[in-house]
Amino acid sequence: MHKVSYIDKEIDFEVEENEVVFDALDNAGEKLPHGCLAGSCGACRIEIIEGSDNLKPASAIENNTIEAIVESYERKHGEGACQGKNIRLACRARVLGDIKFKSFK
Ligand code: FES
Repeated sequence: MHKVSYIDKEIDFEVEENEVVFDALDNAGEKLPHGCLAGSCGACRIEIIEGSDNLKPASAIENNTIEAIVESYERKHGEGACQGKNIRLACRARVLGDIKFKSFK
């Protein structure tokens, strides 16, 4: 079991190896914004604060969606605004170790 911390809600919960973040949060009684649950709409975007290496690497679909999120965010907030931010999609990110995350808006 791994410890996942949802910073915005100050919740820690235990997650099975390879469990998807969105599902684990749902099981803990918390819902993130969501749409497709398939990695293409970007509604479930989160920012990993600690433990980004403790997630399974993103698939091509997840990476494409994250790229679009970053472009859109930087159009609004300026070039480089996402630098240093580890953005993932909660509906796709599989847990391999402890992580801390917050919503990314
Ligand atoms: S809910 Fe659409 S990408 Fe996660």
